[in-house]
Amino acid sequence: MGNGSAHSGSTTFDVIVVGSGAGGLSLALNLADRASVAILTKRSLSDSNTSLAQGGIAAVLDPLQDDPEQHIADTLTAGAGLCRRDTVERVVHAGPAAIAQLRARGVMFDTDGHGQLHLTREGGHSARRVAHQADSTGFAIESALVQRVREHPNIAVFERHQAVDLITRARLARRAGRGTPGWKGDRVLGVYALDIGSDRVEAFGATVVCLATGGAGKIYLYTTNPDVATGDGVAMAWRAGAKVANMEFFQFHPTCLYHQQAKNFLISEALRGEGGILRNRKGEAFMPRFDPRKDLAPRDIVARAIDSQLKESGDECAYLDMTHLPADFLEAHFPMIHDRCMQLGIDMRSQPIPVVPAAHYQCGGVQVDADGQTSIDGLLAVGEVACTGLHGANRLASNSLLEAVVYAERAAAKALIVLDQRGSARELHVPAWDTGSATNPDEQVVVTQSWDEIRRLMWNYVGIVRSSRRLLRAQRRLQLIAQEVQQDWWRFYLTPDLIELRNITTVSLLVVESALARQESRGLHWSIDYPQTDDENWARDSVTVRSGS
Ligand code: SIN
Repeated sequence: MGNGSAHSGSTTFDVIVVGSGAGGLSLALNLADRASVAILTKRSLSDSNTSLAQGGIAAVLDPLQDDPEQHIADTLTAGAGLCRRDTVERVVHAGPAAIAQLRARGVMFDTDGHGQLHLTREGGHSARRVAHQADSTGFAIESALVQRVREHPNIAVFERHQAVDLITRARLARRAGRGTPGWKGDRVLGVYALDIGSDRVEAFGATVVCLATGGAGKIYLYTTNPDVATGDGVAMAWRAGAKVANMEFFQFHPTCLYHQQAKNFLISEALRGEGGILRNRKGEAFMPRFDPRKDLAPRDIVARAIDSQLKESGDECAYLDMTHLPADFLEAHFPMIHDRCMQLGIDMRSQPIPVVPAAHYQCGGVQVDADGQTSIDGLLAVGEVACTGLHGANRLASNSLLEAVVYAERAAAKALIVLDQRGSARELHVPAWDTGSATNPDEQVVVTQSWDEIRRLMWNYVGIVRSSRRLLRAQRRLQLIAQEVQQDWWRFYLTPDLIELRNITTVSLLVVESALARQESRGLHWSIDYPQTDDENWARDSVTVRSGS
């Protein structure tokens, strides 16, 4: 199987977690007292989408002002008919315990001065229910969990280890020339990962592998996501034959800072939750024309409204106006956003913030059951990489950190059951990576060009508003790039960029093909060719599985 830069022996653990955001770190901590756990992460432990999350984590925490049924209803409304009700109920009811667990692990949420959590509000929520630490909630969660993980003697951390592919029983059988077994009964056996420091591909064996690799915002030219968000988990799982669902539902955050020197900087929805108003260049507050919930409508609606304003006027950005709010309130609640804007010469106390929509969250992913189990035995998935049924066709703000923490608890319980049934992986020997006849890559420019091409074509052809013609164009180009990547894969030693390029190509094709298949408009998938929602034919997930892998 595969190609790489060197041979090496294998290392085994009970559980390998790939990725190190809130889901992966929580899962490792939940398991570490009872199993040997390794975390593989391609940069440092704290490089993740979680670290950049600003707004917070939603849960019903004030029973006098809020009710789980309301949180459930808001989530279902945002999800446009595709949420799984049982998942939504499970996650919402587990919310307060998830917050308590994070606090016990050292996350310091803001309080109101009387010891009660301060709760903010975001689009689509009918009550204040978002726990936060000012406007750096993700960073607060990530830092606390990283510290707990580093202190734990039973968690081995492999930083700068980039997962390349899953090792499964079916793949090894095929490699041994025993034909391609049917996918039923397939089982995960570990992961191949490139040690970026030594350029060697190492084999890691495990009884359970949990994908916690986050999303894929980097398939788009403009995104709020960090560089690591290249869809690695979805791509690896799909290549291994796992079911993947709802990839057409890619969420665009309405308000990313529009400034030449700012890359990926989010302007949290909490600003609108606290009274921010979107205006066009003429100063008109345009959201009332689009939805009675105005600036606090769900994200799909707000992002499309901005998109239509920009297309209509030819303007480059819209504006988020906070100037009617007291300056000391803005400084206290949004210190990080205020500082960053000031560095760029934008004073939100006295001038509106220029904003544009940008790719933010992958609502689909590797399909999992109530315990985070994918369709391949022993392969679990938590967080953005997974499709649990919570988000449906559009995610409600701040539900994702909640989902990650709740499913990390459930997946840990599942992992222990698998370990009980199957025993530790200590006896497991997975074969070393085979470099074949690979050589050093001669032209990096080929990889860079394909990266740029994909991100631009996804932005232009597979964005907020879609047409079948543009999707078909995108598909043709992506198929060509996929062929070229496949050729390079066998010819050259692996590099981090080539591994990610293969993954963004796979994930982009999954998004395009799911979007082409869904002949209706719903939630985040908006097609000018099929502008109606078609409940008769499409009130269902779009599930895809690789054929003949
Ligand atoms: C935000 O702060 O607007 C992002 C929160 C989220 O995406 O859930």
